[in-house]
Amino acid sequence: MSEYILEMKNISKRFGGIHALNDVSLHLRRGEVLCLCGENGAGKSTLMKILAGIQQPSEGQIYIDGQPVRIRKPIDSIYYGVSMVQQELIQIEEMTVAENIFVGRYKTKGGFVEEGRINREAKALMDELGIYFDPKSLLKHYSIAQRQLIEILKALSYHASIIVFDEPTAALTIEETEKLYKIIRKLKEDKMAIIMISHRMEDIYAVGDRIQVLKDGCDSGGGLVSEMTVDDIVQLMVGRKMTQQFPEKTNHSGEVILKAENLSNERVHKVSFELHKGEILGIGGLVGAGRTELLRLLLGIDPGEGSLQMNGKPVEINSPRDGVHKGIAFLPEDRKDQGLILEQSILQNTILSILERLSKWGFMNTRKEKNVCKEYIEKLRIRCAGSQMAVKMLSGGNQQKVVLGRCLASHPDILLLDEPTRGVDVGAKAEIYKIINDLATAGLSIIVVSSEMTELLGISDRILVMHEGYLSGELMRGEATEENIMHMAISHDQTAKA
Ligand SMILES: Nc1ncnc2c1ncn2[C@@H]1O[C@H](COP(=O)(O)OP(=O)(O)OP(=O)(O)O)[C@@H](O)[C@H]1O
Ligand SMILES: [Mg+2]
Repeated sequence: MSEYILEMKNISKRFGGIHALNDVSLHLRRGEVLCLCGENGAGKSTLMKILAGIQQPSEGQIYIDGQPVRIRKPIDSIYYGVSMVQQELIQIEEMTVAENIFVGRYKTKGGFVEEGRINREAKALMDELGIYFDPKSLLKHYSIAQRQLIEILKALSYHASIIVFDEPTAALTIEETEKLYKIIRKLKEDKMAIIMISHRMEDIYAVGDRIQVLKDGCDSGGGLVSEMTVDDIVQLMVGRKMTQQFPEKTNHSGEVILKAENLSNERVHKVSFELHKGEILGIGGLVGAGRTELLRLLLGIDPGEGSLQMNGKPVEINSPRDGVHKGIAFLPEDRKDQGLILEQSILQNTILSILERLSKWGFMNTRKEKNVCKEYIEKLRIRCAGSQMAVKMLSGGNQQKVVLGRCLASHPDILLLDEPTRGVDVGAKAEIYKIINDLATAGLSIIVVSSEMTELLGISDRILVMHEGYLSGELMRGEATEENIMHMAISHDQTAKA
């Protein structure tokens, strides 16, 4: 038995002119959790896709348990005991949980899927990990977070010895993240080898043993988690010390620009609030508290009651598109839902929102659009080969930045951001915080929904907290702390229900 269950040596990968990986080597022991870190576009997913047989290296060699292997197709990697939970989930909504877990491996009897058997096997897997879903219910009934756990069950169903998690916690709630940590610790005890990609430092310190950092497709160093500080890791990732994550606040709240009264539907209960010009209003709460639902109701995506005023005049918004015309831009939380046209270029995707706004006049000035697009590629540090590059070729975090860029390019008066930095690396996060601050300083009014406490506290002038669809509290910058936000996030004044 070799000391290492896995070694990847001198791996390079070129996509046309892009050098996604350049002479990267990696090793992994049994019972070890290796955290793969790096900025968006650094090459993390690509390296793991090569291991999983989804992509072929341009150069390099993989060894499993000391033996050189060729992994040409995903099925080869499964043969060698590698299983990967991908960043972009590939699941089928109209199939059941069990069918999704055993997809492509149905056990059939006389041409029929042995439903009973796969349901039992799915159940056994869940029992092993202490998670519970109805194996017979359709996948579409589950949230993104739950689907992520189902994907993990699928990875485990292969009885792999190496499991790769590509940003597993990005969409998980606090409880589910804890559950995943437990699962990873258990896998470790069972001597499985694990590689985890994550932009969240909490993940690294919760379950990681060792860190390896990629930068611009190259090895940038690493070490034992127990011997590295956050600053050390960030230094390796961005190549410089990051002195501050949040910018000095320069914005000032002015008059009321948006007034919402008694917004209500099934998930949101009589929520009233005001948003001021130039203000950054944070909305906190646990996942499921109704924050996304509030934004959806406000924009007329979901039906409901209540009234809205903009600049003192009643206004009704029937769709996000209608919102854009009225000066409200929306960044939704689910990237798949964000209407990115993956086949099309960054430029075309960015222009989409400008088009919506300018279509009234029925003409476009392409040169200007190109410049706008270039501006956001630079500002948001989108790693790409230029504005003509197809969005599907971008890394996950960079796709997120395109959506944000498109949102900003529509030059709204009010910006609604739902988890704006999900899947975005630390360096780019700081850039996004600065952009948000600058926009507010220029008079934009911004609402930010965020599950990250530090983010909420770092950028908001005022924070509204939600619990079970009710507004459970309001805190001004300066008085808000993690503790009092959490306190409001887990309960609300019952009398408010009346
Ligand atoms: N199919 C492809 N065609 C062209 N370029 C690609 C393709 N897939 C990835 N790339 C490029 O390779 C580089 C590395 O991408 P990768 O997805 O590995 O990044 P990552 O480190 O996983 O980033 P993130 O944190 O954003 O997920 C990026 O510049 C990306 O644009
Ligand atoms: Mg990735």
